[in-house]
Amino acid sequence: MKIGIDKIGFAFPEFVLDLADLAAARNVDPNKFKVGLLQSEMAIAPVTQDIVTLGAQAAASILTEEDKQAIDMVIVGTESSVDQSKAAAVVIHSLLGIQPFARSIEMKEACYGATAGLSLAKTHIAQNPDSKVLVIASDIAKYGIASGGEPTQGAGAVAMLVTADPSILVLNSDNVCQTRDIYDFWRPNDDKYPRVDGKYSTEQYTDCLTTTFDYYKKKTGKDLEDFAAMCLHIPFPKQGLKGLRAIAANEDTLTRLTDRFYEAIIYNQVIGNIYTGSIFLSFLSLLENSQALTAGDEILFYSYGSGAVCEIFSGSLVEGYQASLQEKRMADLNQRTKVSVEEYEKIFFEEIVLDEAGNSIDLNSDESPYALEKVVEFKRIYHS
Ligand code: CAA
Repeated sequence: MKIGIDKIGFAFPEFVLDLADLAAARNVDPNKFKVGLLQSEMAIAPVTQDIVTLGAQAAASILTEEDKQAIDMVIVGTESSVDQSKAAAVVIHSLLGIQPFARSIEMKEACYGATAGLSLAKTHIAQNPDSKVLVIASDIAKYGIASGGEPTQGAGAVAMLVTADPSILVLNSDNVCQTRDIYDFWRPNDDKYPRVDGKYSTEQYTDCLTTTFDYYKKKTGKDLEDFAAMCLHIPFPKQGLKGLRAIAANEDTLTRLTDRFYEAIIYNQVIGNIYTGSIFLSFLSLLENSQALTAGDEILFYSYGSGAVCEIFSGSLVEGYQASLQEKRMADLNQRTKVSVEEYEKIFFEEIVLDEAGNSIDLNSDESPYALEKVVEFKRIYHS
């Protein structure tokens, strides 16, 4: 049975910060971000937008009423969860009006969580071919004002509908994983922002890739030459490019895959890191911006979650996949409201003020299709 991605949608918050402005405010050469990280803008979410609202919005952009009746599993991969116990998937299930007899869960392993979700979805469809699984990768990446990771922040969600006989990508069964117990990026329960050993994390990203790819080649007999493009986890685009260069032994292959790589980072460059969703945003960017792909092309994926777990897997493009995509995504991204560095510091780092009973005080109203309306007795109440 062919199983894979039938639909893919993306949601981003309304505000954007130009990294040239951030560079000026931090007294850094703007080329450090633009050339050194290959990053030009980052998406800024207000306090009323979180992984639930962005995830719901991404899913709503692709689902029909028929899909909502067929979905019997909702998986949210995230590392910026809003509750230590209740899964964001439960709230999203409700906001979207998905039929009640469904399993809704949240999966965590840093930026890798949603990739594990995709594998679980595939296994579920293999056993239940008529059902559909909604996999959402939703994150708000915040490192803090003037922190080392500040230019690599971002916010957004990617939603994927996994089905039998998909319209976009058939997932192959060649997955290879690696687990390493390391502290390159982590967030203790009481910390607002992640702790990160920046340089070490970049080394681990690449070392996990090269060693896992060696294992992948041995196990599958495939090599980079077999693929039309490669999508990697993109904490910032330069990291992905370094990863690609680290495993490409052949110059012609590297040149060809680098051309695809630049098409695959167009959205990431103006959104920033969205942790679990970054690899899938890169896939969407590739699909919507490359003229070089055709049905049957094989795409290679490298998912990396600090801590660390990584996975290499692949998929095959389906005939007519272009019909499931959007043409004006970049125009929509260009419509975002540009904020100054002062506004970014206020908007992105605003915190909800609660009274002693856990009720929010003076929370701004947000007219977005999905938004946090209030907190009542420590319960987050959303509108849709
Ligand atoms: N013009 C052009 N390039 C310049 C420049 C200039 N004026 N100034 C600096 N650069 C280049 C540097 O040479 C460097 O490029 P190379 O690595 O290719 O040499 C690049 O800009 C970055 O410079 P630095 O390494 O000096 O930057 P930094 O010390 O400020 O740290 C960082 C960079 C470690 C990535 C930091 O942004 C960080 O901690 N980010 C968060 C962690 C992260 O994203 N890690 C990635 C792997 S972990 C992961 O993937 C999981 C996840 O999502 C977090």
